[in-house]
Amino acid sequence: LEMIHTYSLIHDDLPCMDDDDYRRGRLTNHKVFGEAMAVLAGDGLLTLAFEVMLEQKNVDPKVLIETVREMAMCAGNFGMVGGQGLDLEFEGKKITPDELRKLHAGKTGALFIAAIRGGAHLAGANDQQLLALTKFADLLGLAFQITDDILDVEGTEEELGKPVGSDAKNHKSTYVTLYGLQAAHELAEKTVAEALECLEMFGENAEPLREITRLMTDRKK
Ligand code: IPE
Ligand code: MG
Ligand code: MG
Ligand code: MG
Repeated sequence: LEMIHTYSLIHDDLPCMDDDDYRRGRLTNHKVFGEAMAVLAGDGLLTLAFEVMLEQKNVDPKVLIETVREMAMCAGNFGMVGGQGLDLEFEGKKITPDELRKLHAGKTGALFIAAIRGGAHLAGANDQQLLALTKFADLLGLAFQITDDILDVEGTEEELGKPVGSDAKNHKSTYVTLYGLQAAHELAEKTVAEALECLEMFGENAEPLREITRLMTDRKK
């Protein structure tokens, strides 16, 4: 709050969430039901996630508690929420590559880590496997988000189902604003290659994850 207050002294507009009017070709909640109801829907769905996870009966309670704790951590202040906070804080600023990496690690990487570590915990992965999958997930999230930044410039509204040019309009700091389009493409490819390396120890079993990894850059939507 302090940060937002200070920001408002220098800028006449507050940093804004890029709450676009369309997602996947459909009008978004805040356009159809209003902002208050859209925020409540988010609160309700977030709470429901914990209800659903904790209803699972056939999981060792210790494993379940650790999985749910990690989900909460990755979603919260030090994960996605924190990353979205940085996305606001860095609006219109000249930031360093490390700061941008931190933003992406939070707003997207943490979610991918939660999803992948959750599955790994439930499948009884050992520490070495968990570490490799955690690195993989972080890189997968980064490749996804670099591509998201690129598609906001190069994509089309028809294919994406959401407006393009939203980041420029909101003065967001992105991989494109920091590195330029070509270097952003190269970084996305390099990130995919690094992610694939993390899967080596899993052999053939990781083939579905490899397919998902390639989709991170080979996508138009
Ligand atoms: C959202 O990233 C990442 C989260 C998972 C919260 P963006 O803010 O860049 O996504 P778009 O561009 O609005 O779809
Ligand atoms: Mg957004
Ligand atoms: Mg956007
Ligand atoms: Mg985006």
